[in-house]
Amino acid sequence: MEVVKTIAELKKIVKKVKQDGKTIGLVPTMGYLHEGHMALATEARKENDFVIMSFFVNPTQFGPNEDYESYPRDLERDKKIAESVGVDVIFAPSVEEMYPTDGGIRIHAGRQATILCGASRPGHFDGVLQVVTKLFHLAEPTRAYFGQKDAQQAAIISTLVRDFNFPLEIRTVPIVREEDGLAKSSRNVYLSPAERKEAPAIYRGLKRAKEEYLLSKNAEKTIQVAKDYILSNTSGRIDYIELLSYPDLQQVDEKTDQFVLAAAVFIGKTRLIDNIIFTKEGETENV
Ligand code: PAF
Repeated sequence: MEVVKTIAELKKIVKKVKQDGKTIGLVPTMGYLHEGHMALATEARKENDFVIMSFFVNPTQFGPNEDYESYPRDLERDKKIAESVGVDVIFAPSVEEMYPTDGGIRIHAGRQATILCGASRPGHFDGVLQVVTKLFHLAEPTRAYFGQKDAQQAAIISTLVRDFNFPLEIRTVPIVREEDGLAKSSRNVYLSPAERKEAPAIYRGLKRAKEEYLLSKNAEKTIQVAKDYILSNTSGRIDYIELLSYPDLQQVDEKTDQFVLAAAVFIGKTRLIDNIIFTKEGETENV
């Protein structure tokens, strides 16, 4: 496995891989890998001849009061994990390498970014689209891999790829969970032992709410079930709980055939997100 830090080095490798007629799987990450990232890389390994994983804590997707500075970073640890899942090249650029100039041009993420996490993190998805656009141009992937835990992000990136005709396929990989149901996340390290105990109630609340929706088809009641469960089983503060169509993220109606039930909850100071995607028959990959 090779580790490259510059765009020039990455482009040289990509050129050679393309000349050899090989497919490329790209796994964009902000590092501090957990089993969720490993699942993305494993899927990329299965489906492509060559796997590139990027590590870049992207400053443009963090708000002024968010955890950009304190976001966990450990390249040496991440290298070992990436190697163990068969990554061929790590791309770990500096901020100066990725953003040497600022001409002020931004990509505006649009309607899908005004709700859910976008409502409380203005500009976040613009920053995500800026960095993935660069990564798509640099790595020229055949397929790019994103986790379902960030379901809104995967939906918005799919819209970017569709609307701007990027020649690649977006693959969304199911959420990887701890044994007690908590979705794996780099931010779980922020939780105190007591908060860590409470946190799985988010997923349990979502599961109960999904069952409610399948019975009553009542979106308001569904959201209330999740809220009541989470508030009575944690000391948390709810940022949002929403039931929307997926991947277009519109209000649900009788024609909706795929749903996302999504939550963002502050447990102490840590904002955790989770979701369940399910069909109107109740099928989901994450029960
Ligand atoms: O999901 C993430 O880790 C980031 O938002 C991504 C896609 C790597 C862009 O910085």
